[in-house]
Amino acid sequence: MRILLTGAAGGLGSHTLSYLLSEGHTVIAVDRVPLTETLSSKLPPSHAKSLSNKIVDLTSIQAVTDLFDSFGADNLPEGVIHLAAIPTLGLVPPLETHNINVTSSYNVLYSAASRGIKRIAQASSVNAVGLSFTKEERQYFDRLPLTEKEGYRPVGRICEDQASALVRLFPGTRIASLRFHHILHTKSEAYTHAHSRELWAWSSIDACARSCLLSLTSEGWGQDHNGGGHEAFFIVNEDLIWDGGLSPESRGSGEYTTSALELIKYELQDKNKVGDVDESWWEGNPRRGLWDCSKANILLGWKHVE
Ligand SMILES: NC(=O)c1ccc[n+]([C@@H]2O[C@H](COP(=O)([O-])OP(=O)(O)OC[C@H]3O[C@@H](n4cnc5c(N)ncnc54)[C@H](O)[C@@H]3O)[C@@H](O)[C@H]2O)c1
Repeated sequence: MRILLTGAAGGLGSHTLSYLLSEGHTVIAVDRVPLTETLSSKLPPSHAKSLSNKIVDLTSIQAVTDLFDSFGADNLPEGVIHLAAIPTLGLVPPLETHNINVTSSYNVLYSAASRGIKRIAQASSVNAVGLSFTKEERQYFDRLPLTEKEGYRPVGRICEDQASALVRLFPGTRIASLRFHHILHTKSEAYTHAHSRELWAWSSIDACARSCLLSLTSEGWGQDHNGGGHEAFFIVNEDLIWDGGLSPESRGSGEYTTSALELIKYELQDKNKVGDVDESWWEGNPRRGLWDCSKANILLGWKHVE
């Protein structure tokens, strides 16, 4: 498949780039900065032939239009994976983060969909349900385990709404918004980062890269008769990432016996941060995570394998 990948010089983007090439795909790598020397020099010559690199500021609609026009109508990419963004608050002023992320997503998704590209994926975030960017005292989850249907309390996830609008504007276009958790390389790193505010979870970078490709290649989902539609997917690990007792200070004590329900009671129910808890979710597996990723499993054929 010929895939346009944005954010290709970034953390997840460069990993996804290597993964796509290793799976035999051709990639047009787009970023506002060049690919790192390390990445380019690591690519085997056979992979390097399948890669072209474009430097584009995706906030400029003219630059994005020129990029897509440069392919010609007969040589468009078959799929687009949009990962370019300012990934967290505090890197640039908040208004700039908003403008870069919202504008880039619209420019890329609109340009792709309006030219007839049907398979699109974009990075989203578990912050769509109000996680680390929500003030602690305002956190509330209607129901656990979390599914994509519940608890939509976004702090700046406008890009998902834009995707919903675009699939109505261009029927037959299919967009996956991939709600990643904290993206890390190893589970041991995850244990040092995971905490109650983020519901004790993470996303492995390998699993994220795989979800990007599966969003384009998976079959059998899409809401309208033309095979289009927009769906959000949690791309999160499935077990509880917590190696302490109940209190946050006990992190790292090597206690892997604290159950999810004990933690939920202590950190969420006792602090009125959760509505219903479906305890049957944890029957037979007390260390199961709080994130129900069965939608990605069923529709994309994705599983969080580290
Ligand atoms: N890293 C995480 O833990 C995490 C968690 C949830 C969601 N996400 C999302 O995943 C995506 C990738 O995150 P990442 O960690 O790889 O971020 P990153 O900062 O490492 O990479 C983002 C890339 O986007 C590029 N970029 C930014 N603005 C651009 C513009 N205007 N034009 C062109 N390129 C531009 C940057 O140059 C960079 O290479 C982002 O959308 C992020 O919000 C990341």
